Amino acid sequence: MKTKILTDKIEDIEIAANIIAGGGLVAFPTETVYGLGADAMNPEAVKKIYRAKDRPSDNPTIVHISSNADMKRVTTEITHDMEVLMKKFWPGPMTMVVPKKKELPYVTTGNLETVGIRMPENEVARKLIELSGCVIAAPSANLSGKPSPTTYQHVIDDLQGRVDAVICSRQCRIGIESTVIDLTEEEPVILRPGFFTRENIQWALKKPVIMDPTINKDPRDEDEFHPKAPGMKYKHYAPSAEMIIFQGEQDEVLDAMDLEKRERESLGQQVCILSYEGDEAAAAHDFFAELRQADKEGYDIILAAALPEKGIGFSVMNRMLKSAGFNIRRVEVGSNDYSNSR
Ligand code: TXA
Ligand code: MG
Repeated sequence: MKTKILTDKIEDIEIAANIIAGGGLVAFPTETVYGLGADAMNPEAVKKIYRAKDRPSDNPTIVHISSNADMKRVTTEITHDMEVLMKKFWPGPMTMVVPKKKELPYVTTGNLETVGIRMPENEVARKLIELSGCVIAAPSANLSGKPSPTTYQHVIDDLQGRVDAVICSRQCRIGIESTVIDLTEEEPVILRPGFFTRENIQWALKKPVIMDPTINKDPRDEDEFHPKAPGMKYKHYAPSAEMIIFQGEQDEVLDAMDLEKRERESLGQQVCILSYEGDEAAAAHDFFAELRQADKEGYDIILAAALPEKGIGFSVMNRMLKSAGFNIRRVEVGSNDYSNSR
C-alpha cells in the first residue's frame, strides 16, 4: 500500500477525513503521542488497525471524540463524575473508561463491555474527527511493542506502507500517553498514569482515586498480575539496546552511571546516558524520542537515571520501567559501591 504523506493544512485534513470516513487508516498528531485512527463504528476498518500495528486483538482502542455531543454515540449515560472530568480535563490527555453503547463494535473495545473515550486537545486531531463525521478509534501509531511515536518521522519509520496516510505535524507537546481512568467501579481507578496525576483527579472529583496496584510493579515479583487495562500487561516501549535504570540519590547515581559507562566503553560498547535531573516535563516530552534515537544511532546500552516516583515522574517511570524490562540497579547511599538488584 502506498502511504500518502499529508501536511496539517486544512485541505490535507479534509483528504484524511475522507479516508477515515471511507474505512481507511490515518495516523494523526495528538498532544500526547501520534495516534493511528479508523472509524470506530466500522469493525472492518478497526480490524485494519490491529493488522497494521501487529497488535493483540484483546487490547482495546481508545475512541477519540471532538465534542461533548459525540458522547452519546459511544456510551449509555453521563454520570456526575464523568461530567466533572469532562469539564476539568477535556479537551486534553485524559481517557475515561465507561460502559459502551451496544452499537459500538466489540473489535473497537477488545471484546469488553466498556469503552475508553478521550477528547484530544490537539486541534488537528479534533478537526480530523469533526470533518470525518466519525468517532475515531486510535491506539498509538507505533508497531506494537515499540516506543510510542512523538514525531511524524517515528510514525513513518514504523508504519509507512501499512497505512493509508500520515498527517505530518509538530512534535507532540506532552510526549507520554493519556491518563486512563476507570469509572465503572464503585471508586475511580487509574489504569494507566499520565500527564494528569492522581492528585489532579482527586482534587476534581473531591473523593479518593485508587491507583491500579499492578502499576510500576515488576510482573516477575507478583504472584498474580492482572492489570485491568489489557494494554498494561504487554511488553512495551522496548528499545533494541539493553537498558538499565539507576535508582538512588542523584549525585551517587550520576557517578555510578559514569563508572558503568567507562567500563562498558572499555569493552567496546556504545553507551547512551539518559538523565533528566528531576525535570519531569522534559522527561515526558523527550523519553520516547530518545529511545528511538538511541536505536537509530546503534547504541548497545542505555543507562537511565530514575525520576522520583511522584506526580508526572511516576507516569514517566511507568514507561521507563517497562522499557528496561524492570532492569534496575539500586545505588547505595554514601558509597560508590552498588549492586545489582537481581
Ligand atoms: O494518549 C493516548 O491515549 C494515545 C493517543 C493516540 O490518544 N492513545 C493510546 O492508545 O495510548 P493505546 O491503544 O496505545 O493505549 C490504550 C490503553 C491500553 O493500555 C488499553 O488497554 C487501555 O488504554 N484501554 C482502552 N480501553 C479500555 C477499556 N475499555 N478498559 C480498560 N482499558 C482500556
Ligand atoms: Mg500504545
